[in-house]
Amino acid sequence: MTKKRLLSGIKPTGRTHIGNYFGAMKQWVDMTGEYDSYIMVADYHTLNFIQDAAKMRDLVWNMVVDYLAVGLDPKKVVIFKQSDISAHTELTWVFDTLVTVPFLMRAHAFKDAEAKNKEISVGAFNYPVLMAADILLYSPDIVPVGQDQKQHVEYARDIAEKFNHIFGETFKLPKEMIMESVAVVPGIDGRKMSKSYNNYIPLFAEDDEIEKLCMSIVTDSSGDVPTNVYAIHKLFRSEADLKQIYEEHKGKYKILKEKLIEDVKAFVKPLRDKRRLIAEDTDYINQVIKEGGERAREIANKKLAEVKEKIGVL
Ligand code: ADP
Ligand code: TRP
Repeated sequence: MTKKRLLSGIKPTGRTHIGNYFGAMKQWVDMTGEYDSYIMVADYHTLNFIQDAAKMRDLVWNMVVDYLAVGLDPKKVVIFKQSDISAHTELTWVFDTLVTVPFLMRAHAFKDAEAKNKEISVGAFNYPVLMAADILLYSPDIVPVGQDQKQHVEYARDIAEKFNHIFGETFKLPKEMIMESVAVVPGIDGRKMSKSYNNYIPLFAEDDEIEKLCMSIVTDSSGDVPTNVYAIHKLFRSEADLKQIYEEHKGKYKILKEKLIEDVKAFVKPLRDKRRLIAEDTDYINQVIKEGGERAREIANKKLAEVKEKIGVL
C-alpha cells in the first residue's frame, strides 16, 4: 500500500520558537515514518517580510539547520526550498486568473493589515494563492500546521475546487491537521507566541536567555496557578506531574517559574548541541537542499504539466 502524503513548511522570518516546534514541527517529525513527507522552507513567502539578501540567505540556511536539528531525517523526508521549484510561482499565476479580489480580501492576514492601515503589497495580498500552489502541486493528504494557518489551507481547498470545477478533476483537496492541545502556544505575554509579537522563547535558546524569558512571563492570574507559566510548562511535562508541582508550590510564582526553567533547559540543551554539530557541516546541508529540490521538482513539474494541458497551453 502506498503511504499517504504529508506536506508543510514554514516561512523563515526569524528564530524558530517553541510555538513553531510544538504547534507544527513536532508533528512532522512524529509522522515521518507513517507519511510520505515533504517539508519546505517557504522563502518566497519570506520575501514579503525580509528584503535583504544577506538576511534572507541566513534565515533560509538556518531554517534548514533547524529542520534537521529537530529530527527531520532527509532520508525519510524531502526537505526543499520553495524558490528552487519554479512550478510554485508558475501555478500561482494560473490560480491568480481564477481567484477574485473579494475572495482574497476575506483573508485574516489581509484584514489585519488593512485594519492597521498598512500598505499591502500585491505579494502579501496574494500570499494564500502562493501557499495554495505550494500545497496543491504535491497532492498531500494532510497539511499539519498551527491554528493560525488553518484559513490558508482552506483557501487551498477552495482554489482546488474551483480549478477542478472549471477544468476537470486535477487537484486532490487538501486537509489541514491541527493538534488541538498545542494549536496555540502562548507567548511570555500570554498572547499567541509569535516572532511578530517578540514574546517568544527560541527553540534553541541559550540557558541565560531561557532564564530571562521564563522569569518575565506575565503572571496575570489572581489564583494559585500562574496561567501562562502553566500553559507553557504543559508542553514540557505531563499534567499529572504538573498537578503535583503546582499543588506543592501553590501561589509561589517564582519557584514555579524556576521549575519551568529547569524543564525548558533540560529539553533545549540536547537540541541545541545537535544543532551546533549539524550547522558545522556546510556540505551536508547544501546536499540536503540540492537533493530535496530534485525530488520535489519531479513531482511538482508533473502536476504543472497536467495543469498546462488542462488549461490548454500544452
Ligand atoms: P510566527 O507567528 O512566529 O511568525 P509562523 O507564522 O512562521 O510563526 O509559523 C510557522 C508555523 O508554526 C505555522 O505552522 C504556525 O501555525 C506554527 N505556529 C506559530 N506560532 C505558533 C503558536 N504560538 N502556537 C502553535 N503553533 C504556532
Ligand atoms: N504560511 C506558512 C507559515 O507562515 C508557511 C507555508 C508556506 C506553508 N507554504 C506552505 C505551510 C504550505 C504549509 C503548507 O508558516
